[in-house]
Amino acid sequence: MAPLQYFLFASLLLYISSPSLAQQSFRPKALVVPVAKDASTLQYRTSIRQRTPLVPVDLVVDLGGRFMWVDCDRDYFSSTYRPTRCRSAQCSLAGADGCGDCFSAPRPGCNNNTCGVTPDNSVTHVATSGEVAQDVVSLQSTDGRNPGGVVSVPRFLFACAPTFLLRGLATGVAGMAGLGRTRIGLPSQLAAAFSFRRKFAVCLSSSTSANGVIFFGDGPYVFLPGIDASQSLTFTPLFINPVSTASAFPMGEPSAEYFIGVNSIKVNEKTVLLNTTLLSINNQGVGGTKISTVDPYTVLEASIFKAVTEAFINEAAAMNITRVGGVAPFEVCFSSSNILSTRLGAAVPSIDLVLQNQNVFWRIFGANSMVEVSREVLCLGFVNGGSDTRTSIVIGGHQLENTLVQFDLAASRLGFSATLLGRQTTCANFNFTSNA
Ligand SMILES: *[C@@H]1O[C@H](CO)[C@@H](O)[C@H](O)[C@H]1NC(C)=O
Ligand SMILES: *[C@@H]1O[C@H](CO)[C@@H](O)[C@H](O)[C@H]1NC(C)=O
Ligand SMILES: *[C@@H]1O[C@H](CO)[C@@H](O)[C@H](O)[C@H]1NC(C)=O
Ligand SMILES: *[C@@H]1O[C@H](CO)[C@@H](O)[C@H](O)[C@H]1NC(C)=O
Repeated sequence: MAPLQYFLFASLLLYISSPSLAQQSFRPKALVVPVAKDASTLQYRTSIRQRTPLVPVDLVVDLGGRFMWVDCDRDYFSSTYRPTRCRSAQCSLAGADGCGDCFSAPRPGCNNNTCGVTPDNSVTHVATSGEVAQDVVSLQSTDGRNPGGVVSVPRFLFACAPTFLLRGLATGVAGMAGLGRTRIGLPSQLAAAFSFRRKFAVCLSSSTSANGVIFFGDGPYVFLPGIDASQSLTFTPLFINPVSTASAFPMGEPSAEYFIGVNSIKVNEKTVLLNTTLLSINNQGVGGTKISTVDPYTVLEASIFKAVTEAFINEAAAMNITRVGGVAPFEVCFSSSNILSTRLGAAVPSIDLVLQNQNVFWRIFGANSMVEVSREVLCLGFVNGGSDTRTSIVIGGHQLENTLVQFDLAASRLGFSATLLGRQTTCANFNFTSNA
C-alpha cells in the first residue's frame, strides 16, 4: 500500500511542477466543442464524451435548455454513473426538491431515493421526469485558436430521460445539451469546474458539411485566417423572464432562456411601426425577444410579422425585386432573377433589430435573412408565429449563423459580432486541428 501511495503522490507533484502540463490539464482557460448543422432537421448538434469508459454522446444544442439530459434507458453503460441522493447539495443545485423511487431493477435512470427534474424536448415541447445523476464528462480545452489538451469533470450533473423523449430530434442523438441560465446548465457547471468566467460563445455554421463551434470561457475566439471575433462585439443587456418558458417546471422558476431588449425594427433603415407592448416581457412572462437554437428560423408574432414583411416587400419592390408565391414555411418569397449576390448574401433590404438605443442594432443582411428554396426562388427566412405567441420575437438559427454571440452570465450581457462574412471568414473556420 505504502509504495503505491508514494508513487501517486510523486507523480502528482511532477504534474503540478510542469507548468505547461498543469495549465492544460488542470486549469484550461476555455473549452471548445464542434457544432454540426443537421441537414434534415436543421438542428445544431454537438458531441461530448461521457461515462467510463468514455463514449461520444451526440446532443442537440439547446441554448435555453436548463441542463444536459440524455437517454439513460438505451446503451448507458458506465462504472462512474452516480444517482443523486434526495436532499443532497447536488439536488439543490439542480433545483430538485422532490424525492423519487423506481420500481424495477436499479440501472442508470432508475434508482431509489433520488431527486428528479423535468427534462424537456424543446423541439417537440414534450417533457417528462428524470433522475438527476452525475458522471464523468470530457472536453477539449482551447487557447481560442486550436483545441488543446483534454480535461474532464468527474461529477458532471445531468438528467436522465427515457428513450421516447428523443422523438423529433436528429438521428443518432442521445439527448440535449442545455446551455441555459441555471446553475447546472453547461456554461455554469463548466465555469465552476475550471474556475473560469461564466461566459460562453456560440458560432453556428450555415453549412451542413462544415462545423461551427461553441466556446466555454472567455475569448480569444479565433477563426482562420487569424480573426479574433471576440475583439469586435457589440453589447446589449440580457433580461430575465420571471416565468419559465420550459414545457414543465417547478412553480416560480424563472426562464433559463436568453432574452434581449429589441425596442424597434428597421427595414432599410426605416422604422417599422409595431405594437411596442409586445416587445417587453410582461409579468406573466409573455412578450419580449429571445434567442433560440432550436427554432431554425426567426419566429415573429403575427402583427410584427405582418408589419415587418410589408415593409420588406415594399422596399424590395423599390429595388425591382419581383415577389412570387410563398413556399412553406415561408410566406414571403421572391424571384432570384433580379437579386444580386454580394459577400453578405443576397442584395435585399437590411433588417435591423434596434436594441437599447438607436446606435445599437443587430443588422441582418441577405445571408441571414434569405433562404434559397430553389434556384429561382429566395424566401424571407422569417416565419409567422400567429397571434398567440408566448415570446413575440424568437431569433432563430438561420439568423444566428456566421455571427459570434457571446453570453456573459455574470455581467448579464450579450455580445454579438457583425456577420463574419464581412470579415471574410465564417463560423466554420475555427481550426479544429489540436495543438496539444
Ligand atoms: C426501490 O425500493 C422498492 C421498495 O423497497 C423496491 O421494491 C425496488 O426494487 C427498489 N428499486 C430500486 C431501483 O432499487
Ligand atoms: C398591443 O399588444 C397588446 C398585447 O398583446 C394588446 O393587449 C394590445 O391590444 C395591442 N395594441 C394594439 C393597438 O393593437
Ligand atoms: C426598376 O425598373 C424600372 C423600370 O424598368 C427602372 O426605371 C428603375 O430604374 C429600376 N430601379 C432600380 C432601383 O433598379
Ligand atoms: C491549424 O492549426 C495547426 C496546429 O496549430 C497548424 O499546424 C495549421 O497550420 C493550422 N491551419 C491553418 C490553415 O492555419
